Amino acid sequence: MDLEQLAQHVARSKDRPIMDLFSDPNRAADFSVHADCLLFDYSKTNIDRDTRAFLFDTARAADVAGRRDAMFEGERINETEGRAVLHTALRAAYGTVVKLDGENIVPAVRATRDRMAEFARAVRKGSFRGQGGAITDVVNIGIGGSDLGPLMAVRALTPYSDGPCCHFVSNIDGAHLADTLAPLNPETTLIIVASKTFTTVETMTNAHSARDWMATKVKDPAAQFVALSTAADRTAAFGIPAEQTFGFEDWVGGRYSVWGPIGLALGLSIGADNFADFLAGARAMDDHFRKAPLERNLPMLLALVGLWHHQGMGYATRAVLPYEQRLGRLPAYLQQLEMESNGKRVTMSGDALETVSGPVVWGEPGTNGQHAFFQLIHQGTAVVPCEFMVAKHGHEAGYAHHHRLLIGNCLAQSEALLKGRTFEEARASLSGKGFEGEELDRQARHRVFPGNRPSTTLIYDQLTPFVLGQLLALYEHRVFVEGVILGINSFDQWGVELGKELAKDLDPILTGSASAEGKDPSTQMLINHLRPRARK
Ligand code: F6P
Repeated sequence: MDLEQLAQHVARSKDRPIMDLFSDPNRAADFSVHADCLLFDYSKTNIDRDTRAFLFDTARAADVAGRRDAMFEGERINETEGRAVLHTALRAAYGTVVKLDGENIVPAVRATRDRMAEFARAVRKGSFRGQGGAITDVVNIGIGGSDLGPLMAVRALTPYSDGPCCHFVSNIDGAHLADTLAPLNPETTLIIVASKTFTTVETMTNAHSARDWMATKVKDPAAQFVALSTAADRTAAFGIPAEQTFGFEDWVGGRYSVWGPIGLALGLSIGADNFADFLAGARAMDDHFRKAPLERNLPMLLALVGLWHHQGMGYATRAVLPYEQRLGRLPAYLQQLEMESNGKRVTMSGDALETVSGPVVWGEPGTNGQHAFFQLIHQGTAVVPCEFMVAKHGHEAGYAHHHRLLIGNCLAQSEALLKGRTFEEARASLSGKGFEGEELDRQARHRVFPGNRPSTTLIYDQLTPFVLGQLLALYEHRVFVEGVILGINSFDQWGVELGKELAKDLDPILTGSASAEGKDPSTQMLINHLRPRARK
């Protein structure tokens, strides 16, 4: 990324009202893209034609297209782990050839998908049964990518859910497992242990405790367990039958894994056909990413707008604001996807990054966020680029007026961010309400909205399985493009390791079987306070 040129573009646009850019009557059409039934509007940003041309040049100079093709073709672009990055193969169509080390991996992927579909059918129609009868509840035990993807997607696709009720346990806090299991009947519950490595301490601790819970009522608890993992030896050692184990390979990153076995809970909830539509949506976005020209390429555009706001304008965070209650967990899903992928400090070659890496990503569904943190977004001193998304149609025919109000609120927020409200406007409105003199000015100052705050809006038709697949793949590829331009490896996550190692060390210290010597004074003091003592 040419940081000097970037700085020049920033200097030119920093104090320019975004509204001024709309003196071009074509701006709304020119700075929006309609592709594959999605509409992405980025006209409410301070990007003008020159800056856009510079951003396109940046993508070309970084050879994003070349890296993209390398990813799809199975090159080992995850260089620090020596792995290919082929989550896209999990959603490949029949007949596609994706070669890894000379071998086409698609037939094996399809075979696992067929087994998953068969298993989902058996559970859903009751031919796979628990000790007490048909399976009524499924508990997915996993964390990070082995939790957030299926959890978010199951919630997102509630209108398509006609299978067993799916629950998700991730936290090592026993409260999560206890509260989830309390109302369930072990005899009709299926436990999925979802873990790429099958070593993650949260997941394994929860899995063992869940097995103990199952054993209180069920003679053969392992028969009601399923494993989703790359580690067949460990799933077998846990006692899970091979026919209830669905494997995948190390070329699927945890946060990119919802498309394969890790998506089983979703398949159980919505059925194999809807799950296939979910994959088809992602596949459509893969095709778009590979074929659409840069200027109309949605992942490229999202990434370039993101880089402009964070690396260019210096906005520290970005808010993802789905006006869709069922996408309530999308911000959390995107936090892992974006921050675990692009929260790095060195380039692929190990040199310090010359610019900042990925932004903090956060958000909540609208309209709830409006009554919580939007105050800061409108009038706080930090500028937060907002990424709005909303469906043209909801699913609730009987609540059409709710959906109209939802859309109105979404549009109102981006309009308010763009235009703001001047002191004079605030004053005029207050004087009509009887304020005058000093008090009128004082009150008016509190009611000024600076405006000129950037946002983008993504509109989709309806949140179907297909559309959800499109949206998630769009964000995956956006993260990829940002990572390539920054020159980082978006597919490792070494930053989570140190905490894991230290937590392991701390366990014997907390039980009192190891000494706290060597720990810093603050940690020693905290250990001392937390260590159980004999009660008097
Ligand atoms: O948080 C680190 C991480 O490795 C994530 O990348 C991953 O999604 C999560 O832990 C869970 O890992 P596993 O699926 O191996 O249990």
